[in-house]
Amino acid sequence: MLSENVFVIGAGETKYGELWEKSLRDLAVEAGLKAIENAGIYSRDVQILYGSNSLAGIINGQENIGSLIADFSGIASGNIPAVRIEASSASGGAAVREAYLAIKSGEYDVAVVGGVEKMTDIFGNEVLDMMSSLLDREWEAFFGATPAALAAISARKYMKDFNVKKEALAMMSVNDHANASLNPNSHFKNKITLDQALNATSVAEPLNLMDCSPVTDGASAIVLASESYLKKNKLNGMRILASAISQDYLALHSRDSIYTLDSTRIAADEAFKRSGLKREDMSFVELHDSYSIYGLMELEDLGFAKKGEADKLVEEDIKLGGRLPVNPSGGLKAKGNPLGATGVGQFVEAFLQLKGKADKRQVKDARYGLLQNMAGTGSTSVVHIVGGD
Ligand code: COA
Repeated sequence: MLSENVFVIGAGETKYGELWEKSLRDLAVEAGLKAIENAGIYSRDVQILYGSNSLAGIINGQENIGSLIADFSGIASGNIPAVRIEASSASGGAAVREAYLAIKSGEYDVAVVGGVEKMTDIFGNEVLDMMSSLLDREWEAFFGATPAALAAISARKYMKDFNVKKEALAMMSVNDHANASLNPNSHFKNKITLDQALNATSVAEPLNLMDCSPVTDGASAIVLASESYLKKNKLNGMRILASAISQDYLALHSRDSIYTLDSTRIAADEAFKRSGLKREDMSFVELHDSYSIYGLMELEDLGFAKKGEADKLVEEDIKLGGRLPVNPSGGLKAKGNPLGATGVGQFVEAFLQLKGKADKRQVKDARYGLLQNMAGTGSTSVVHIVGGD
């Protein structure tokens, strides 16, 4: 029964940003209903719902996200299962993977994945502490480590060991902002120059404001369906060719290398093996670049560059018209990073790209995309490969 091919048949999302006029449930419902409408199905056709969220319990005091979404999007009367998947900032990718497996198993034909995060209703220092709960609270956050501080430690060692200049990190952010300026849903719409990226306010040396993803509200949703459902209802969609997940130590100091993302490396190798595709087949990649340094590390651990050599790609290759367009959506730096929604948002972008509907940020002749979603400093990575005929 594991032979069912799985397709994304609809996608929808809210704007990402500081959305003070909208609540957690408003955002989730808006994205979910847009995705269902986009798929051309009815809410009653949905057989299972996965809510993806990371921090609503501590930020918004709201748990039980699956039920919340099902209730307020009007599908609770159908009594379908509705559960939350949590894997920190990799919640979205992990939830899509669960939906993919549920359909692949033959148990369900139609699933919705809705990712949501509402982060800006509290003060910056409070949200910083809450985001630090993604780390090891006892051995990292308790001693003052934050996600930015740990990314900075990796960046320092990486730059020293490979003699990589700060410009290479900054170019990742310049690229994200350029692409986000073409995405109507992105948190930031402004392009930035290399000079601005290099000279922004320091956050955790050597990382500055332009190396960090922002604190974002937003929701993204997709509808997944089996191939048999697709054919029966004469729908079309984007095929999920491979889905892989891997895990590393939670605390950064427990890992063999603080600039190698083993979880990403292992998940990517598995995804490429399962898809039968090669790195050079990818038309674009969506990376989990919560910090610019991770963008470089991810390009290497996904196998697009040797360790310490991703800086060679950032000049030209990663641009929209380049050899390997990176983050056509604007990435985490500039589209934004509403944790539980981020990984689902990567699918929304891929869906638009592969349907040729990404407007001004359309990657020419897009055929295959790789989506990499990661928890915190890399404890969990989820890699999907999508596309094909
Ligand atoms: N990039 C660019 N501009 C940013 C920004 C970012 N990442 N974060 C905030 N800004 C801008 C705001 O838009 C605002 O601009 P304005 O004055 O023109 O309106 C200004 O900076 C101040 O915003 P504020 O919300 O007060 O910023 P802050 O100082 O509280 O937060 C960071 C800035 C970098 C500390 C915060 O965005 C952060 O913690 N980011 C990392 C999130 C993270 O770790 N996520 C991953 C978890 S694994």
